[in-house]
Amino acid sequence: MNSPVTFVQEGSIGLIRIDNRPVNAVSPRVVAALEASFAEFEERGSLDALVIYCAGRTFVAGADIAWFDSSDFNPQAYNRLLARIEASERPVVAALHGTVLGAGLELALACHWRVAEPGTKLGLPEVKLGLLPGSLGTQRLPRLLGAGAALGMMLSGAMAGVQQALQDGLIDEVCEGEARAAGKASAQRLVATRAALRRTSALAAPVPPDGGFAQYVTDAARKPQYPARVAIVRCVEAAVERSFMDGEQVEAREFATLLGSATSKSLRHLFFSEREAARIPGLSDSTAPQAVRRVGIVGAGTMGGGIAMNFVNANIPTVLLDTTEAALQRGLDLIRKNYMASAAKGKLTAEQVEQRMGLLTGALEYTALADCDLIIEAVFEDLELKKQVCARIGGVAKSGAIIATNTSTLDVNVLARAAGRPERVLGMHFFSPANVMRLLEVVRGDDTAPEVLATVMKLAKAIGKTPVVSGVCFGFIGNRMLEPYLREMEFLLMEGAEPKQIDAAAEALGMAMGPCRMIDMAGVDVGAKVVIERGKAGELPADPAYRAVVRKLFELGRYGQKTGAGHYRYDGRTPVHDPEFSALARALGDMHGVARRTDISGEEIVERLFYPLINEGLRILDEGIAYRPGDIDVVWTAGYGFPDHCGGPMFMAEQTGLTKIAQRLRHYARVRGDAFGYWTPSSLLTRLAETGEPLSKWTRTA
Ligand code: 3HC
Ligand code: NAI
Repeated sequence: MNSPVTFVQEGSIGLIRIDNRPVNAVSPRVVAALEASFAEFEERGSLDALVIYCAGRTFVAGADIAWFDSSDFNPQAYNRLLARIEASERPVVAALHGTVLGAGLELALACHWRVAEPGTKLGLPEVKLGLLPGSLGTQRLPRLLGAGAALGMMLSGAMAGVQQALQDGLIDEVCEGEARAAGKASAQRLVATRAALRRTSALAAPVPPDGGFAQYVTDAARKPQYPARVAIVRCVEAAVERSFMDGEQVEAREFATLLGSATSKSLRHLFFSEREAARIPGLSDSTAPQAVRRVGIVGAGTMGGGIAMNFVNANIPTVLLDTTEAALQRGLDLIRKNYMASAAKGKLTAEQVEQRMGLLTGALEYTALADCDLIIEAVFEDLELKKQVCARIGGVAKSGAIIATNTSTLDVNVLARAAGRPERVLGMHFFSPANVMRLLEVVRGDDTAPEVLATVMKLAKAIGKTPVVSGVCFGFIGNRMLEPYLREMEFLLMEGAEPKQIDAAAEALGMAMGPCRMIDMAGVDVGAKVVIERGKAGELPADPAYRAVVRKLFELGRYGQKTGAGHYRYDGRTPVHDPEFSALARALGDMHGVARRTDISGEEIVERLFYPLINEGLRILDEGIAYRPGDIDVVWTAGYGFPDHCGGPMFMAEQTGLTKIAQRLRHYARVRGDAFGYWTPSSLLTRLAETGEPLSKWTRTA
């Protein structure tokens, strides 16, 4: 196997090239090979200077995250090597391009000079993995930038562009051409001018501007689920107040603790799951995605407008179509209003607003869609209407165009057939607000062609979405799992639990918002209409108590935030306890023979909300609706506010223990009765609980 690091000599300059695609991550092989190459430079005393650069799309983008889970993980060898590089008596230049992240930036910080191509991004994103920079980033960065700026960078994990980096002193030079050649020129200049070698570890670290760390610790401690934040502050404190060697020990200790933390394991799981979700089993590498140069959207309402913004933001010309001039103008005006709001916050310039609006064309005639490569329908959630709209799109779309539906509940296969070319159709289920929410469920119909799927997955990434493929079923992955969650929320309410109590239990677990607040915000009417329609179609359990609360709230016009009352009363946007709702829930309980209780604990609420949801997730896997457990975790963390520090419902289930979950479901079946099968563990849950086979290793065989 070729070495991932090579050394060459050009005149009096040595060049080390790291080539470990895709992102030149630091692995044990890279460390060993880098060490060998650096030793070669050390041995060749006649050389004047060294340049370290990378092949491919980026400089080192971090340590190999997969390495963290292996028993031989130990950053010490790398850290010692960085110390050797920094101690060199001859200039060492880091020549940067792409994304210089984590252990990559830590390598650059150990060099004496940093030159970067325009477009390079630099950062220490370890906090996003529940970690801290563990190769002396917490010690060198404060010495280079000052504690305040270093903390800002490490606590946010944000990347800085070259202008910012130059201004802050993180890099020394922005080059015009290629990093490698620029690095060589910088090295020659440093040699010619006999420039003093700047060793970052020897600099003193200025204290934060406000003089202390107490406020940083208090702020970081507000989110105890993310222990890396306090640990980073502690390390920077050590960088300022103690020697480099002492700081190194503090960093090593804190890093080791974080590495074993549940939070970091969860966040690492999500990092890989998000990337894996983009891979579609059975899709061969030869399935080339098509180019999407123009997009059409039918329906300029809440979703259509938000969806259009995604494409326009990615510089893709977009046609927005509605039935009347008034509806179209309302949609276009709302988009402009959103852009103006971003401009008012300084996120866009006036020119950028105009440039984006210029990419948008309004239309009333379907012929305007004829040259679109992708057409997404986002009209009212009505099967007959959507079938008509799909047929009209199918009638005008050019051959090869992709047709997508944004339906949340309807059968994508039926709509695919209505379009007259089912192999070109799939679902693109955006979440509201569509220009903000990361998740995109990509619904694979029975006949969807592989290149259609491949195109949409690639496009999703290009517009900044996190795509997950789902098969066709009611609610796809996310909303199908939401149903048992809301069912139990309602039974708990009828038994006498208060909305505040339920929300507090879910939020204590880490949910961004408890279920009662969530429904009030999304609109009780939206949820109720789905329940009513499904009820009529005989698709819901025949239990008269089933989702009785949402139906009643709808009947009373208590739609949530938008009408000032739902599960709560609203003081502006603030939910306030509403005795009227409590009386209503009790009356519904009495009407449906639900026994009143006063002993509902937070633990019971969590178990009853989440264990049935997990059970449904396992059914979804078993049926092949989702490809793997990680896909479900991505759906719930990216689209439903599930806490990322728990890794998603499937990851949490594995940590909790599938045996325990199966036992607790059976327990609730005993105490609550299981006439409707609400509490029956799914066959996959039963099997995994019995065999002990880990869910994370599970793959579908049938
Ligand atoms: N370790 C292992 N694999 C990595 C990786 C890493 N640090 N960074 C990226 N990859 C892999 C991805 O899993 C993906 O693999 P796949 O093609 O098999 O799915 C491939 O590289 C490409 O990644 P993306 O699909 O994310 O490509 P993008 O171009 O969209 O993004 C990136 C590139 C900006 C580098 C992004 O991948 C990223 O943010 N990576 C993580 C960077 C990071 O967190 N670095 C710090 C690591 S921790 C560390 O360094 C600890 C140290 O302080 C000791
Ligand atoms: P909306 O009511 O805000 O907008 C629908 C738009 O479609 C209106 O502008 C209407 O004039 C237009 N329209 C109706 N018939 C049309 C036709 N024949 N041709 C062209 N335009 C037509 O509805 P919303 O909320 O944007 O929902 C649209 C779709 O998105 C629905 O399928 C819904 O289920 C789905 N969805 C909605 C989410 C939400 O939170 N609002 C989330 C995810 C999906």
